[in-house]
Amino acid sequence: MTAVRRSALALILWAAATAAAPAQNAWEADPEEIGYSRAGADTCYGCHGNEPGFQLDAMFLTAHGQPADERSPFGAGQLQCEACHGPGGAHTGRVKRGESRPHMINFGEGEIAPVQVQNDMCLGCHETHVGVAWDASPHGSDEVSCAGCHEVHIARDPVASDVTQPAVCYECHQNVRGDFLKFASHPVREGQMACTGCHSPHGSMTDALLVKANLNETCYTCHADLRGPFLWEHAPVPDDCSNCHRPHGSNHRGMLEKRGPLLCQSCHAPAGHPSVPYTSAGLPDGTANPNLLAGNCMNCHMQVHGSNHPSGAALMR
Ligand code: HEC
Ligand code: HEC
Ligand code: HEC
Ligand code: HEC
Ligand code: HEC
Ligand code: HEC
Ligand code: HEC
Ligand code: HEC
Ligand code: HEC
Ligand code: HEC
Repeated sequence: MTAVRRSALALILWAAATAAAPAQNAWEADPEEIGYSRAGADTCYGCHGNEPGFQLDAMFLTAHGQPADERSPFGAGQLQCEACHGPGGAHTGRVKRGESRPHMINFGEGEIAPVQVQNDMCLGCHETHVGVAWDASPHGSDEVSCAGCHEVHIARDPVASDVTQPAVCYECHQNVRGDFLKFASHPVREGQMACTGCHSPHGSMTDALLVKANLNETCYTCHADLRGPFLWEHAPVPDDCSNCHRPHGSNHRGMLEKRGPLLCQSCHAPAGHPSVPYTSAGLPDGTANPNLLAGNCMNCHMQVHGSNHPSGAALMR
């Protein structure tokens, strides 16, 4: 083997060895190994800045950019940008020709840093805010990124305001947008309330992430007058409001599951109590039964949620 060929081989072996151990991405090695960038945010600002649609500086208008708060990423002794994006030693260093820059941890669905890694960066400071229910919740267990809902390089996080929050949720829950466009719905579109009026996005005791232990308790937080107890209860009401109502919205008055008599008749047999004019049972001798005149059950049984009147047994007063 000639000296020239031998050195060529050495070069190939060297190249193979370095390719097998490229500089590592921020989440792939011991932070001590990658190292933090020494001048903090100033180093990052050397290459990054405001761009159309992305205001790096806006963070300094939020809780995260407060040097006076020692818990903030910019508080004394904290790691500044690297508190969230991970150690930047390799990323900020010189990149050899033909190699790609080792990545920082970036945030959101579909980013190369695994979602678990992203979320751990936030949870390091926010475990107590997010709470123990997160891991088992549909968002936690389906690996939804914190940044799927939260933006931090922005003066006001859209998910934290009632007016802008629904649009964030609809990015993943398209079908729900349709519910709130129906004829009768909770005033979410009007900005009077948001999804968080009923849901705890970080997790809760219920499947549907409700703010209270069950559906009815959730409704009572705003509709306290319907909590009862009533002298005369209507059994399906304390059982579950969604026996009759669609919580988001429906195409029937009062967000009802079905309209007028059909709703009631889904549980109550018409026998003995004719109320629909177009059955022959309702027309014994060609004369309408007096109970038919009012048409809809609620015209007589007005207290459909329960009655406190001494003679309200039939929920009529
Ligand atoms: C020498 C220039 C330079 C410096 C210094 C620098 N970056 Fe970068 N950064 C880049 C380039 C170039 C990209 C685009 C990389 C790509 O698309 O592959 C990038 C991408 C990123 C990304 C997107 C994720 C990724 O890595 O692809 C983040 C987040 C980021 N930088 C944060 C930082 C932070 C935080 C600092 C300070 C610790 C920093 N950068 C310092 C050049 C730099
Ligand atoms: C170094 C610690 C630290 C890290 C890391 C961190 N935060 Fe924070 N965050 C804070 C502090 C401190 C506050 C202010 C809390 C307070 O005032 O009670 C805050 C507030 C917030 C708030 C509330 C906003 C407000 O105006 O009150 C949200 C939302 C938030 N952080 C999300 C995140 C997300 C998402 C991540 C990960 C990308 C993250 N944080 C990473 C320290 C941190
Ligand atoms: C499904 C959307 C969603 C996801 C995912 C999510 N959050 Fe939130 N988070 C919210 C909403 C909405 C609020 C505002 C609640 C309110 O003020 O009504 C909030 C509030 C917060 C707050 C400030 C309020 C407080 O409790 O002190 C912090 C901090 C926070 N989130 C951190 C996180 C972190 C960390 C993660 C990831 C582990 C995360 N969030 C994931 C929707 C989400
Ligand atoms: C509190 C955690 C946190 C801190 C501190 C933080 N970032 Fe970010 N950064 C994020 C999140 C989350 C995103 C994703 C976009 C968003 O939510 O606004 C992001 C996005 C970015 C991006 C965009 C990458 C892309 O996709 O193009 C860059 C660049 C970046 N950050 C640089 C920085 C620099 C530089 C600093 C310090 C001045 C910094 N970040 C401080 C959490 C943080
Ligand atoms: C980045 C995508 C994403 C965003 C944004 C998001 N979610 Fe989710 N959500 C999911 C995933 C994934 C699941 C679990 C799978 C499923 O049930 O669809 C889920 C589940 C849920 C569930 C439980 C559904 C069930 O059947 O038990 C509720 C309630 C919910 N999300 C509410 C919200 C609210 C409120 C917001 C806005 C504050 C929001 N989500 C934002 C992805 C998202
Ligand atoms: C008035 C209370 C209320 C409001 C406001 C509300 N929800 Fe719900 N949501 C519920 C209840 C109750 C359920 C469970 C329904 C059931 O189990 O029958 C539910 C179920 C869900 C589900 C799972 C079932 C499905 O329909 O896909 C998702 C996702 C969801 N809500 C997202 C949202 C989003 C996003 C918003 C805001 C735009 C929102 N919700 C606003 C009460 C509410
Ligand atoms: C965060 C507060 C809040 C919660 C929780 C809440 N609601 Fe409401 N609800 C409202 C508001 C506000 C209105 C509109 C009142 C108005 O327009 O006068 C409303 C209206 C209604 C209406 C009448 C709609 C119409 O078209 O007349 C029904 C029915 C209703 N809610 C059922 C429920 C049910 C069922 C639940 C539990 C799943 C629930 N609400 C939980 C705030 C709430
Ligand atoms: C047996 C069926 C039924 C059940 C169960 C039921 N509702 Fe209703 N609710 C109705 C009907 C019918 C209306 C009248 C709708 C209309 O015509 O506008 C109504 C109207 C309402 C209204 C509008 C204003 C009012 O007070 O009349 C609210 C709010 C409401 N229901 C909340 C609830 C809540 C909260 C629950 C659970 C605690 C519940 N409903 C359970 C049938 C029911
Ligand atoms: C989900 C099933 C269900 C629906 C829907 C329902 N009910 Fe009921 N209703 C019941 C049950 C169960 C009772 C209790 C029967 C008993 O105690 O024997 C009851 C009792 C009643 C009573 C009192 C009966 C008595 O014996 O004193 C009246 C009146 C009544 N319902 C009217 C209505 C009207 C009007 C509607 C439509 C708005 C309606 N119900 C919808 C299940 C339902
Ligand atoms: C014109 C008024 C009127 C209309 C409309 C009406 N009811 Fe009645 N309902 C009554 C009267 C009166 C009673 C008997 C009350 C009593 O005996 O104290 C009654 C009794 C009942 C009872 C108690 C059991 C029984 O059969 O005596 C139920 C359940 C009931 N109605 C359900 C309905 C349903 C469901 C509808 C609609 C399909 C409806 N009602 C429509 C007037 C009406």
